[in-house]
Amino acid sequence: MKRKILVTSALPYANGSIHLGHLVEYIQTDIWVRFQKMRGNECHYVCADDTHGTPIMLRAEKEGITPEQLIARVAEEHKADFAAFHVRFDNYGSTHSAETRGFSEAIYKKLRDAGLIEKRSIEQYYDPVKQMFLPDRFIKGECPKCGAKDQYGDNCEACGAAYAPTELVNPYSAVSGAKPELRNSDHYFFKLSDPHCQQFLRAWTRGGALQPEAANKMQEWLGGEGENKLSDWDISRDAPYFGFEIPGAPGKYFYVWLDAPIGYMGSFRQLCSQRAEDSVQRMATPSPLAGEGGGEGALDFGAFWDKEKAAQEKTELYHFIGKDILYFHALFWPAMLEHAGFRTPTKLFAHGFLTVNGEKMSKSRGTFITARSYIEHVKNTEYLRYYYAAKLNGTMEDIDLSLDDFVAKVNSDLIGKYINIASRCAGFITKQFDGLLSSVKIEQVKFDNHEKLISKNNKRHYGPDYSSREILEKTLPLFRGWLNDIEVNYEARDFGKAIRQIMLAADVANVFVNESKPWELAKLDTQESRDALHWVCTTSIELFRQLTLCLKPILPNLATEVEAYLNIPSLKWADIEAMLMSGHKINNYKHLMTRLDPKLIEAMVAANQESLKPMTEPHSQQRHAEAQQHTPSSPLPAGVGDFISIDDFMKVDLRVAKIVNAEHVEGAEKLLKLTLDIGEAKPRTVFAGIKSAYDPEKLKGRMTVMVANLAPRKMKFGLSEGMVLAASGESPGLFILGPDDGAQPGMRVK
Ligand code: MSP
Ligand code: ZN
Repeated sequence: MKRKILVTSALPYANGSIHLGHLVEYIQTDIWVRFQKMRGNECHYVCADDTHGTPIMLRAEKEGITPEQLIARVAEEHKADFAAFHVRFDNYGSTHSAETRGFSEAIYKKLRDAGLIEKRSIEQYYDPVKQMFLPDRFIKGECPKCGAKDQYGDNCEACGAAYAPTELVNPYSAVSGAKPELRNSDHYFFKLSDPHCQQFLRAWTRGGALQPEAANKMQEWLGGEGENKLSDWDISRDAPYFGFEIPGAPGKYFYVWLDAPIGYMGSFRQLCSQRAEDSVQRMATPSPLAGEGGGEGALDFGAFWDKEKAAQEKTELYHFIGKDILYFHALFWPAMLEHAGFRTPTKLFAHGFLTVNGEKMSKSRGTFITARSYIEHVKNTEYLRYYYAAKLNGTMEDIDLSLDDFVAKVNSDLIGKYINIASRCAGFITKQFDGLLSSVKIEQVKFDNHEKLISKNNKRHYGPDYSSREILEKTLPLFRGWLNDIEVNYEARDFGKAIRQIMLAADVANVFVNESKPWELAKLDTQESRDALHWVCTTSIELFRQLTLCLKPILPNLATEVEAYLNIPSLKWADIEAMLMSGHKINNYKHLMTRLDPKLIEAMVAANQESLKPMTEPHSQQRHAEAQQHTPSSPLPAGVGDFISIDDFMKVDLRVAKIVNAEHVEGAEKLLKLTLDIGEAKPRTVFAGIKSAYDPEKLKGRMTVMVANLAPRKMKFGLSEGMVLAASGESPGLFILGPDDGAQPGMRVK
């Protein structure tokens, strides 16, 4: 029986780049989905960008573009990054879509009709300069407990205290720096405190949909029977806000986390529509790929989302998420679905967080690495897929990317064990047998002679006193046994265990090659030795084919190359039993995978560290977009150094510069290319690390200040002939300098 499965990964925020931390999740999900498809199950994988909310609105404003333009640009970047890592969605949508809007409104109305929505007036901080209500993270001030400065409105990073923004001492708006005022506003709440809701959640969280660790956590949050610990959830935000306006509530918008998970439905709805269009077209031209990857043809939305229909058709729904967003997925989301008449998820698969070399990803250590940067430096993304797979075990434990171990493991497992099997035998098939595999059956090979042949030819190589056939007869059952287990471990998302078994099987295959010594057989020139050589190489190639099949969910691109080399159709799980046909012709072997050079990793880390040196950026991308301005109340940065003489200062030739042109640099993550007029015959070219903060169009024609006598520096993208000055500090944001009106290009600054 074909299972019918819908799988999602969390929707990444549309205000930042995909980094190696995100990729843990998308690679984990993709491996599982590919595995299901290979098994012949109907499996659909959808995702989307999470596009709404204040950070995205403010970031677009800062770049001088509309939020729609921002999210369109980021969507393209995200899609390209995922494609490069072979994360293959059946649909990648956006929460800013007609479909998601429709479902958001429908769910809201159902909840309202069920009496689960309540309007209440709340008191909240308002920025009188920016004229907007401030989310907690956009209010800063001194910690009410320890007095630390510049703390966010929800908790203190110095002492860890949690509090309400109204408790901050000397609060200021992180958007404008203004002193915020308390104002009243009507908000809409989802009544999670309703006893029915809590009862439902208590049962649901115990019903097997959660991993044991997650279920325990939820019980803590929910409290025992009758405790009703959950409070109502504020699902509205006031204008200005980038999101969907709430029906019947002008000026009020759905909070981003209300419509974000509904984006799963929106994206799947789009997939259904595409399939409907496809099937009309297919009537004319049937697709050669029909059946590949778990289904084509019309898809019934209701079969996967409608409560009754989903139960009837036994469809399954799985959300892969990080442990940080468990709360939203295990409480708010099932409560919304249940009370709006939709099905709830079959299971939530939460994973842990990525650390690099045992520590949190860090910009100063160069371990905050974007997908783009990995692609630029390392290129082969399957190395990382393999390493993550080896580390993943289906629990919520954090996983560590140890960079030395990464290189060692990829090289010893993939190159040293797996690829090695093919590369040692492939040449013989091509050169001596015209690419044709052996038609000799195991029983026909004269093993006693084979053994003697080898021993006669080279005594030193003759080791154990058993034959190739015996080796194979003893080890093949082990090999088979492991392959059977591998399927179970993939299903359980214990990819690490699956890989250990695959590598044990690869060890067995290597023992077989070592002991059969095809290179010795090739030196002899009898029909017997030729038959033995042919059979040994054919067997090795077949073992290699089976290992490839097992690795295919993890290394889909490599598997495709192996399929081309072996001249076979796309491998499916059922092909595990079928042996390569005798007399089958395979293609010439070309190198399938090269060793991972540790220098590439060093260069990647150095590049991520280097691009940071001039201006430090804050750690999280979320925060990055939140606050924009260094505030008057923040203290001077620590570490203002020793005194210098005026002569020292005068060594720096600072000039007023006119930005005559500014443009993006193809392939550069942080840089803009600036053309600066400082009154010289030829304008200067300067690469500045300000891409995150400025839209090049907005810079054209502006005046700024540059260091004119800095030694020119050769960069990857060209020669940089100076440096522009910019301010940055503890709080997010980056600000280039500008002289007062009237300053002319070339004027000295001193
Ligand atoms: N937009 C929300 C999810 C909405 S789902 C309806 C969000 N976005 S995110 O971009 O911050 O994160 C997307 C996913 O990546 C989350 O599941 C998150 O847990 C995961 N990760 C982000 N950083 C991570 C690590 N450093 N390590 C592992 N996973 C991480 O949350
Ligand atoms: Zn504190």
